[in-house]
Amino acid sequence: MWIFGHSKHISPALDKSGLIPVHIAIIMDGNGRWASKRGLPRNAGHREGANTLKRIVRICDEIGVKFLTVYAFSTENWNRPKDEVDALMSLLLEFLKNADNELAGKNIRIRVIGESEGLSNEIKKEIARITSNTMNNTGLTLLIALNYGSRTEITNAAARIAREVKRGTLNPEDINEKLFSRYLYTSDIPDPDLVIRPSGEHRISNFLLWQSSYSEFWYSDILWPDFSKKYLIEAITEFQRRNRRFGGL
Ligand code: FPP
Repeated sequence: MWIFGHSKHISPALDKSGLIPVHIAIIMDGNGRWASKRGLPRNAGHREGANTLKRIVRICDEIGVKFLTVYAFSTENWNRPKDEVDALMSLLLEFLKNADNELAGKNIRIRVIGESEGLSNEIKKEIARITSNTMNNTGLTLLIALNYGSRTEITNAAARIAREVKRGTLNPEDINEKLFSRYLYTSDIPDPDLVIRPSGEHRISNFLLWQSSYSEFWYSDILWPDFSKKYLIEAITEFQRRNRRFGGL
């Protein structure tokens, strides 16, 4: 199913008659390079990236985007040096702890997708707290992909389905795309319409592989900490120009 949202407060540069993507997904890439270019430690780039995220969440909410999924930490990111992993985890913890205050009055719902196994108890506790504190909000839903990897997500879905078949609670004949997608972390979320990847990379990097089958992709050389409203509007304007056929004519 394909639903379009309509903008609430339209920025002057946005086409007023244009359709606003319901769901935008972003690979927040280029933090490390942003820092290196300034002679700063990589972690300074991640901190600036988190600030950019806060600004982009507000702007997406203002223009009427309903879901924003951001790739904060992949299952592969554990392979980075320990001090970088630790810095990313404490940044995430800080973000989750301050989210109520910083987004106060913004009516934003926060959810985390990914594997909880491997995360510290402190982070797990904060995830549970912020999820429950914001679950009744009706504005933008921010989905933070944390300890996320699409292959793990799909493999776990297949394993759960297999267990149900073995138990006799699921009929193999009933397995179809719609049923399968209900076993993913994003079971109740529409697929992303637009996937944004800054920093000059053109990979999908194990992000929303199933869900982005028909997404439009927008790439830019801009590094994530420098991403701003201007680029978001550029991406949405380009999205509005594309002719989405979903395999049809
Ligand atoms: C990729 O850039 C970015 C990450 C692995 C982490 C993204 C995290 C944040 C933006 C901040 C924390 C998130 C939240 C939700 C508070 P990179 O380090 O690979 O950049 P590079 O390619 O330039 O090295």
